[in-house]
Amino acid sequence: MRILGIESSCDETAAAVVEDGTRILSNIIASQVEIHARYGGVVPEVASRQHLGNVLPVINEAMVEAKVEWEELEAIAVTIGPGLAGSLLVGVNIAKAIAFAKGLPIIGVNHLEGHIYANWLVGNEESNEGNERVPQQPVFPLVCLIVSGGHTDLVLMKGHGKYILLGRTRDDAAGEAFDKVARILGLGYPGGPAIQRVADEGNANAYYLSRPWLRGTDDFSFSGLKTAMLRLAQEQGIMSGAIQRPQMVADLAASFQEAVVDVLVTKTVEAARRCQVKQILLAGGVAANELLRQRISERSFLPIILPKAILCTDNAAMIAACGYFHYRGGDISDLNLDINPGLKLM
Ligand code: KG4
Ligand code: ZN
Repeated sequence: MRILGIESSCDETAAAVVEDGTRILSNIIASQVEIHARYGGVVPEVASRQHLGNVLPVINEAMVEAKVEWEELEAIAVTIGPGLAGSLLVGVNIAKAIAFAKGLPIIGVNHLEGHIYANWLVGNEESNEGNERVPQQPVFPLVCLIVSGGHTDLVLMKGHGKYILLGRTRDDAAGEAFDKVARILGLGYPGGPAIQRVADEGNANAYYLSRPWLRGTDDFSFSGLKTAMLRLAQEQGIMSGAIQRPQMVADLAASFQEAVVDVLVTKTVEAARRCQVKQILLAGGVAANELLRQRISERSFLPIILPKAILCTDNAAMIAACGYFHYRGGDISDLNLDINPGLKLM
């Protein structure tokens, strides 16, 4: 069963064709990163205009690359939220137009749930079992850490669509913290990849940052770390731009990355142990972080599933995969489908 997925919740216009919720036939992503980088973050109005220009070519490319005709599609899955209203509208309206014109059912997908379902896409061969890169399918019950630009949620999943929220961030999301600290260090947007890149040259023990453990809960907090980084950067004269010290910036970036990863990994592994689950899954843009991937593999006693980095950041294959499981469960929308920028998963 082939589903066309469409994603336009933030600054990537994406379309993909996925078979049976697991096999990627095509996965096309038009990134707007270079445009928004000029402004140091996503400008909503600019994003919607870019989506408008990109969405049809991206869908066409996804269909051509998948070598499927419209008649061979079973349904269309599209992100309805959470995200930027203007951006979401572009994806949802085009999905409705195609569904109407081609007589296809339409499935509205929660973007965060889509991130989780990146773990069902074949190609998740990076597991920690004997270091063998074997394809793995998730097994319930499991714990999933969703770490994106807007969310940090630790979720217990007992079956398809069955979520129990264990904990979430009380302030900044992990990705947001990476983006803000990158800005403090003058590293540009998007912050996560920039911090990872310079941290490679840095010493993670150069600065000790106290960890926000929030013991006794599965919640997270990253705003204190961000403030500590701001203070250090000011003290060292980095913020004023008067002093150019690449090694110091690298050390600060590495120390920050180490602290965030330490907290995310320790709390996730502890929750998985307590909940007696069978697997740990990672999802969302920050799950592309190399140190996080390495540390969770080293420190978990359970099998880990890590989507490939390109499937952790925003894409439409995850939306099509998630849509498949909704469709199979009879959860189908109609042409009254609407966006919901503040949509919650739990
Ligand atoms: O899931 P995503 O692509 O979009 C949202 O749904 O928010 O996540 C974007 C976030 C950004 O904050 C970005 O800085 C972060 O993921 N990110 C990373 C890495 N790649 C992307 N953070 C740390 N390390 C990375 N390699
Ligand atoms: Zn996302």
